[in-house]
Amino acid sequence: MTEKQNIAKTTYSDVISLARRRGFLYPSFDLYGGVAGFYDWGPVGSLLKNNFLAMWREAYVEGEGFFEIDCPNVTPEVVFKASGHLDEFTDYMTSCNKCSQHFRADHLVAELHPNPDSLGKEELAGLISEKGVKCPECKGDLTELYAFNLMFKTNIGPTSERPGYLRPETAQGIFLNFRNLYIHNRQKLPMGVVQIGKGFRNEISPRQGVIRVREFQMAELELFVDPENPNYVNYPLLKHISLSLLPDTTEKEILSRTVEEAVEEGIIDSKILAYFVALTQEILLKAGLDPNRMRFRQHEAHEMAHYAKDCWDAEALTDFGWVEIVGIADRSCYDLEQHMKHSGVDLRAMRQLAEPKMVKVRKIEADMKKMGPVFRGRAGKIRDKILALDDDAVAAVESGQPLIVSVDNERISISTDMFTISQTNENRSIERFMPHVIEPSHGVDRILYCVLEHSLKRTVDESGEETRVLHLPPVMAPYLFAVFPLMSRDGLTDNARELYNLIKNELRGRGSLGFYDESGSIGRRYSRMDEIGTPYCLTVDYQTLEDGSFTIRERDSKEQARINKKQVRTALRDLVDHGISLKDWSKKNGVKLISRDN
Ligand code: ATP
Ligand code: GLY
Repeated sequence: MTEKQNIAKTTYSDVISLARRRGFLYPSFDLYGGVAGFYDWGPVGSLLKNNFLAMWREAYVEGEGFFEIDCPNVTPEVVFKASGHLDEFTDYMTSCNKCSQHFRADHLVAELHPNPDSLGKEELAGLISEKGVKCPECKGDLTELYAFNLMFKTNIGPTSERPGYLRPETAQGIFLNFRNLYIHNRQKLPMGVVQIGKGFRNEISPRQGVIRVREFQMAELELFVDPENPNYVNYPLLKHISLSLLPDTTEKEILSRTVEEAVEEGIIDSKILAYFVALTQEILLKAGLDPNRMRFRQHEAHEMAHYAKDCWDAEALTDFGWVEIVGIADRSCYDLEQHMKHSGVDLRAMRQLAEPKMVKVRKIEADMKKMGPVFRGRAGKIRDKILALDDDAVAAVESGQPLIVSVDNERISISTDMFTISQTNENRSIERFMPHVIEPSHGVDRILYCVLEHSLKRTVDESGEETRVLHLPPVMAPYLFAVFPLMSRDGLTDNARELYNLIKNELRGRGSLGFYDESGSIGRRYSRMDEIGTPYCLTVDYQTLEDGSFTIRERDSKEQARINKKQVRTALRDLVDHGISLKDWSKKNGVKLISRDN
């Protein structure tokens, strides 16, 4: 940067106007006036998003070795009854008695409380009444608070007999598959399962553009662990990472701690939770977030989702202030326990005991003399099902619950005169337990917005002319390189296309794309690429026709060097894979830098 240039603050509207202009984001349904809370990722934005998701998969599926599954968006009501979302996934609302506008109660007190998210219904209502909060639109009086469920409702099939909902999180699909996945994993824990998919929330007032939308991309991990085993095999790899932590303590100060210190000082509850806080940070930094504008904030007790026992949010500092981008929750055994209760299916895991132990075992014995005449050919199958019932099921029957078994897809009730309950002592070497769940939940749209805001640098020169450069890391850049002929004549285009194809083939299979452009001035072509974050631009000129060399321009430094086609392969490997700067690469290879273009 020359002395005459000044760095200007990047605002939300700077990001959004660039994003619209350059094909990152478009407001959805624009042709018909648009609908708040919906955005389309355009051609350049989709590449950015795919790069992030590829990196996320690389970390979780390749790195940690977790399974990936893909479940439906439409989910029957029974699932959300069990998960608690039907009753608890609500925000408190109020409406204006005069203009009938609706508002989220916590938004109305945003300026009056440090963390309105943590307030319950009574506290919110109390604050609104105590401070005399009125309708922000017309100053009318507000109604009493009421709960609004954020799930989009639909019907499964043509009638309303089978209500369904668009999932507000991908997690439930993973919990419902726990038994299948546990068997797939040879009944071993820890077991990690990820899902990338859409989440839907009928947000009451989706302000803040792409930060709060009604349909968004989620990338979630559910890690099932044995609560008696606090270790995680990869913990030593990240224990030295430094974190900025804002714990839920009265001091409310940011602490800088390594992962290991945070665990030892009891700031983060467990090694497993701490490991995933650290892995989240690694991913976010790799995606291009500014480390100085990132922190992890622990939820206050009242702020936690209904299923969570502890939660740390990764937050990024934006034009809107601190924004949650990833929630890392300890969901304990809440979800599996709920689904086990509601479905009647055993969702426990098994652990090997260090020493076998003698336990009292109760069994239900079928009286075949009585069952035979009633159930005939099915009596044998029913007896086997009864014998297979586990301790808890037997205890339930003993305490007076009806004995019901499913045979040939029919639920059969067995009357009490057809069985007896006996007790024996057995030597057991395994026991059953409810797995606990650690869940990092990534909101991809928010992350990408923050990456754009943190990466976009605006400079304004003395004449007021503005330059915008998106300093994306190469792994996130929609296009890794661009190739331009200096002029679109004299054989330069053929040469440039040849160079473009050469590099394209070189990079094939790595997920890195190139861009070819021959129209407009070379300066404009460079600035277009700067605005979408292309790290390298290669220009074919008249000298290329003579000796096969071309210029390579580095986005961040604006340095240029002249290199030969034969050097392309090694240059790309050094610059992209090894992160060497063009200046250092040129020095190492005896190539002279050309003057900078600004
Ligand atoms: P908020 O308090 O901002 O509504 P939340 O606590 O409800 O967020 P979570 O339920 O933890 O968010 O969801 C996991 C992640 O999904 C969040 O960290 C965020 O990145 C993303 N997310 C949640 N709601 C939205 C939304 N309406 N639009 C975009 N992303 C969202
Ligand atoms: N799955 C985490 C959440 O939706 O909050």
